[in-house]
Amino acid sequence: MTLPPDDDAAWAPLARHWHIRPDTIYLNHGSFGPPPAAVREVRRRWLAAADEQPMDYFVRQLEPAWLAARDRLARFVGTSGGNLIFVENATAAMNILADSLPLAAGDEVLLTDHEYGAVQRIWQRACQRAAATAKTVVLPLPFRTADETVRAFFTAASDRTRLVVVSHVTSPTAVVLPVQAICDEARRRGIGIAIDGPHAVAQIPLAIDPLGCDFYTASCHKWLSAPFGSGFLYVAPRHQSLVRPPVLSWGRIPPTRIEAWSDEFVWAGTRDSSAYLAVPAAIALLEGIGLDAFRARTHWLARYARQRLVELTGLEPIVPDDPVWYGSMAHVPLPPLSGSWPTLPASETELAESTDAGSVRHGRADEGCPVSNPLQHTIWRELGIEVPVIEFRGTRYLRVSCHLYNDTSQIDRLVAGLGQLLAGGK
Ligand SMILES: Cc1ncc(COP(=O)(O)O)c(C=O)c1O
Repeated sequence: MTLPPDDDAAWAPLARHWHIRPDTIYLNHGSFGPPPAAVREVRRRWLAAADEQPMDYFVRQLEPAWLAARDRLARFVGTSGGNLIFVENATAAMNILADSLPLAAGDEVLLTDHEYGAVQRIWQRACQRAAATAKTVVLPLPFRTADETVRAFFTAASDRTRLVVVSHVTSPTAVVLPVQAICDEARRRGIGIAIDGPHAVAQIPLAIDPLGCDFYTASCHKWLSAPFGSGFLYVAPRHQSLVRPPVLSWGRIPPTRIEAWSDEFVWAGTRDSSAYLAVPAAIALLEGIGLDAFRARTHWLARYARQRLVELTGLEPIVPDDPVWYGSMAHVPLPPLSGSWPTLPASETELAESTDAGSVRHGRADEGCPVSNPLQHTIWRELGIEVPVIEFRGTRYLRVSCHLYNDTSQIDRLVAGLGQLLAGGK
């Protein structure tokens, strides 16, 4: 039976899979998605297997389990296992890619201005090394049609453009970009395409093979709720011979021979692979609940948050109210601060947003935190709510992530508390 997306009581038993600290309303799954208890338990068992009989774990159990988990993830994201490798996170995947691709002097890499700050830095460094150029395209706001977005993006392409790098779901703005149309246009022009997809996995339907992209990078520790430190890199078969492991080891456990590009990434020295091995448990949990039901519920909550916040501020979001443009994250503008608030470049604010959200704090003190968004800290300190305030093109926005442990009462608390803070000039 499918649970109605608007029924908090019906969804409440599922919230118990997650153990969120009781002093916190966590509306930031998009930065760091906490794993549910069943996933934590599978990871714990794999760690115990290594700690209690290392020879049996490393020599006999690890490789078949790694390959089975990788193949399970590949099926989940719509490709075959041989096109995928486990990496710690999307950042590691993007670095492997940038270090492997042969760029030449004069080449261009095109990115949107909605790309994650660290991804911008990765391509700036790769381009600098090759005397190539990383070009950032400012997309028109508000988003209206996929056609308009795709046209605006490719206006900046030239015959020197080797690669475009776009998020599937953007980090500072929570927009589901029209990646299929971007892939089609890139292929038509003979330009390579790398999709940065950590927010897409589980949040929206994903089938990599039909997309026809060249590369896809992702973290599984966001919407899929797999353990922190689990992600993947997809490489289309035509490019696999280019991509090299940053850490060269045995690749496969001898006497197995290296036969495929992905074999080089299985054994990269003695390390903890428990996060990867628990990925199938995260997939099983969400598939058991039903992916369509999960998406309908979390989009319903995001839409509820969006509507209530728009009622509060009277300000319109940058995407139409349509699941084509946003999934489980609401993104709404906030009124400008009456006082002065130094504007940081997008990449810096986003880094601050991420580091802030991840700082381990018990109690609500935030002394000594590098503050880029004072309102975010005030919301945490005074309301006990974790929700990022993100500066984008000179406007501050709230990005509200909704997962299965969230409900409307939490959003109501956010809206009421935020209303008071804004009225108080915060
Ligand atoms: C669009 C995007 N790309 C890349 C990353 C980096 O992810 P990770 O820190 O898991 O490597 C993030 C993290 O928030 C992101 O939102």
